[in-house]
Formats: sequence, structure tokens, C-alpha cells
Amino acid sequence: MIRFTNVCKMFHGRPVLKDFSLEIPSGHTVAILGGSGGGKTTVLRLILGLLRPDSGSIRIDGKEIVGLPERDMVPIRARMAMVFQGSALFDSLTVRGNVGYRLYEEQVFADDIIERKVVESLCFVGLEDTLEKMPAELSGGMKKRVAIARALACRPKVILYDEPTAGLDPINTHLITELICRLQKEERLTQVVVTHDLDTAYRIADRLIMVHRGEKLFDGTVDMLKIADDPRIRTFLRPQEVLTAPGCFPDKDGGIRVVAPAMDKESPA
Ligand SMILES: Nc1ncnc2c1ncn2[C@@H]1O[C@H](COP(=O)(O)OP(=O)(O)O)[C@@H](O)[C@H]1O
Ligand SMILES: [Mg+2]
Repeated sequence: MIRFTNVCKMFHGRPVLKDFSLEIPSGHTVAILGGSGGGKTTVLRLILGLLRPDSGSIRIDGKEIVGLPERDMVPIRARMAMVFQGSALFDSLTVRGNVGYRLYEEQVFADDIIERKVVESLCFVGLEDTLEKMPAELSGGMKKRVAIARALACRPKVILYDEPTAGLDPINTHLITELICRLQKEERLTQVVVTHDLDTAYRIADRLIMVHRGEKLFDGTVDMLKIADDPRIRTFLRPQEVLTAPGCFPDKDGGIRVVAPAMDKESPA
């Protein structure tokens, strides 16, 4: 269970998360939705203990991590893995080196066991034939799948994904989405998937949380989200219905701002 209670986080005096509370039960997959700059990545970094909140409580499996010394954070973080936006593979290492990186560093397992875990993880994402390849030889979608294999190699209980389908073609988007669904159904992992892609969110999540400018706007099921009538939610879900006239732009508070509809055209000579 991941629980935030009244978490506040500021950057340079500006609030980025305001009184933010959430609960993610173990074994569930939750999507965190919202526009750019809303605070989604910040939530993931707080869960990993890479950032500290200014106030509030963050509990992982009942243990308060706010104020925990780094050495006590290490075993908690060891049960979690993050699939970073942009994959974040090491360019100078092969796929094998990338996927096994954390296991080789930890030196808990013998090399043959690490090799088996690396191959199993790559099989799961359908890339067992890329062991010797360098990241530069892979497509964006393959890199993302290697990043998922790297997360899986440590057999985490929790996987955090930051925009896992951003910039991918429809086939790779489908493959990544299916992998996340399988990890939920077959492995019962706890997964937190940050995305602004509605189709992905609808497909994978038991529950959706929508974040807007550091506030939680919504927390519930897909069906509940679709009928929500907060104007900020409606604009996010169906901009084509809300921002209909030319010159309509979303306003900060969910309203609509209309600016001059046409630009001056030079009159014909
Ligand atoms: N390390 C940082 N230093 C200063 N500002 C930051 C930092 N990280 C994030 N921010 C700011 O916090 C806000 C939320 O960022 P982020 O959590 O990355 O949003 P999202 O992932 O929803 O796009 C943004 O305005 C961003 O510029
Ligand atoms: Mg982000």
C-alpha cells in the first residue's frame, strides 16, 4: 500500500503539490492522468524517496518514509522499480548490461542466476534476441520494452512508469499497454502509471487519479471519470467538445478564454 496524506511540495517557493492525498492498495494498477506540469512525475519521485515533501506523510506498506535516513530507504526502494520517461538506458552498455545492471551492482546473485533473470525478463517483453545489442540499435518502442525488462529483472513488488507510451507508434503503445495489463493479472504487481494518454489509462487502470496544477481533481473508476462534470476534467477528456469556437483556449481554472478570432491579413494588392 502506498499512502500520501496531505503532501505538500514546493519548488523555489512555488507549490507543485498541494495537500495531496492518495491511496494505492497493493496489487492494484492506478493511472495518474493530467496535463504537463501538473505534478505527476513529482508524485513518482516522492514515492521512490528521491524527493522529500515539505509537509505531509508518505507511507509505503505502513512505513513512514518522510524523514527516513537514506540507509533505511534503500531496502524499501529495492522493492520498487521505475520505468523512466525516455527509457534512460545506459548507451554504453548492451541490453544484457542494462537489464542486469542493478543485479550486477548488488552482487547478491551469481552471474549464471543473473543471466537467467535477464533472459527471463527479456522473454517477457519479447526481446530475448537482443541481449548483445546496444541501445542505439533499438527503436524507441524496443528501448521502452528493455526498460520494462530492466525493471522486472529485480523482481519488484511495485513498478512506477513515467509516460510509458509517450511518443510510441500504435503497435508499440499496444505492446506496452498489454505488458502492464499482464503484470497486473499474472503477477499482481502494484503499478503506478503516469500518463496523459487516455486510451492507455482506460485500458490498464482499475482506478484513475487526475492531477491538475498540483491538486487531485479526481479519484475513481473510468466510468465515474467519463461522467465527471468538473470543467477542467471535461476539457482534458474532450477538448473538441469544450473548445469549439476558433480562438478558444483553456483557462487556468477550467474556464475558457476567447482571444481575437482572426489575425490581420494583408489586403490584396
Ligand atoms: N527539480 C525541480 N526544480 C524546480 N521545479 C521543478 C522540479 N521538478 C519539477 N518542477 C516543476 O514542478 C511542476 C510539476 O512538474 P512535474 O511533476 O514534472 O509535472 P508533470 O510530470 O505532471 O509534467 C512543473 O511546473 C515543473 O516545472
Ligand atoms: Mg512528467
